[in-house]
Amino acid sequence: MAIKRSGDNPKPAPRGEDLLTAAKTPQEEKSADAAEEKIRPQTLADYIGQKDLKEVLGIVIGAAKARQDPIDHLLLYGPPGLGKTTLSLILAKEMGVNCKITAAPALERPRDITGLLLSLQKGDILFIDEIHRLNRLTEELLYPAMEDYRLDITMGKGDSAKIRSLALAKFTLIGATTKVGSLTAPLRDRFGLIQRLRFYDLEELRRIILRSAQILNAAITADGAETIALRSRGTPRVANRLLKRVRDYAQVKGSSEITSELATAALDLYQVDKRGLDWTDRLLLTTLIEQFQGGPAGLEALAAATGEDRKTIEDVYEPYLLQIGYLNRTPRGRIATRAAYLHLGLTAPFLLDELF
Ligand code: ADE
Repeated sequence: MAIKRSGDNPKPAPRGEDLLTAAKTPQEEKSADAAEEKIRPQTLADYIGQKDLKEVLGIVIGAAKARQDPIDHLLLYGPPGLGKTTLSLILAKEMGVNCKITAAPALERPRDITGLLLSLQKGDILFIDEIHRLNRLTEELLYPAMEDYRLDITMGKGDSAKIRSLALAKFTLIGATTKVGSLTAPLRDRFGLIQRLRFYDLEELRRIILRSAQILNAAITADGAETIALRSRGTPRVANRLLKRVRDYAQVKGSSEITSELATAALDLYQVDKRGLDWTDRLLLTTLIEQFQGGPAGLEALAAATGEDRKTIEDVYEPYLLQIGYLNRTPRGRIATRAAYLHLGLTAPFLLDELF
């Protein structure tokens, strides 16, 4: 199976907290083919977690193979770092086809998508990350491509413009997005299968860390793996990243094994707290509590007060804070919950009421 990445995927400058955000760092974008590929599971059997989704994909693969047809177009959605790219590569491998990987921001001009579509062979998978960010022209080229495996190219301009149709190989489009609600209805409707990826539980993360440690030749105890898992925000990409940083720490400290104590010391040093919150998570929550009396506060106001980008807050930080119940979203804005006050050691007005 060939893995091809096309185009640039512009990323913000590297920052300290990239250790915890599940967004890929620029270094990871570049080195994904080396270290990341080494620990990426290659088959559905190797893949830990997402039990229901794995079962669905197993059936999709079995049926497509039996019919000798490509699999249906598939839309995967959920927070970053949960395995959308990995599952697409596994699907390609299991089907014995090529997987071409790109991202919507790299498909700026019509010729970007036409070139990719024309290069696909029968059954190949085209993976488009951040598919909610496609521009209108590119999206409209995709409609007949997805529906009828046809590329409609406009030749010439004005009154003399003509549409030429080119036949495409029967392919599978896998779209990935963190924001399924931002897809247009016509694009969403052209996917035969729409599946959500969920955050991983502690046991799944623990197993992922043990598996990755074995591949990386890093000795680790069961408790050491659990300590890292607890701080991994339910996200395998974060778990593997923390594992690598703890391994560095063990090496420099001359420890032959990652124990719970060692992992705790390393992660404390990296300022990853017991629930996996980093500096920015804590800034968001303390700002909400101290400047907005716990909320509700609008996303714009919170972004301005913290100096964070609103999209980053929404796509990267909020999903996990919502998942662990530290933040609530209401029509009037974001609210810090009682659990958030307790975690940060801050006294909430409603906690005072309970005391007196
Ligand atoms: N590495 C990253 N995600 C994984 C998963 N779901 N299973 C096994 N290893 C992984």
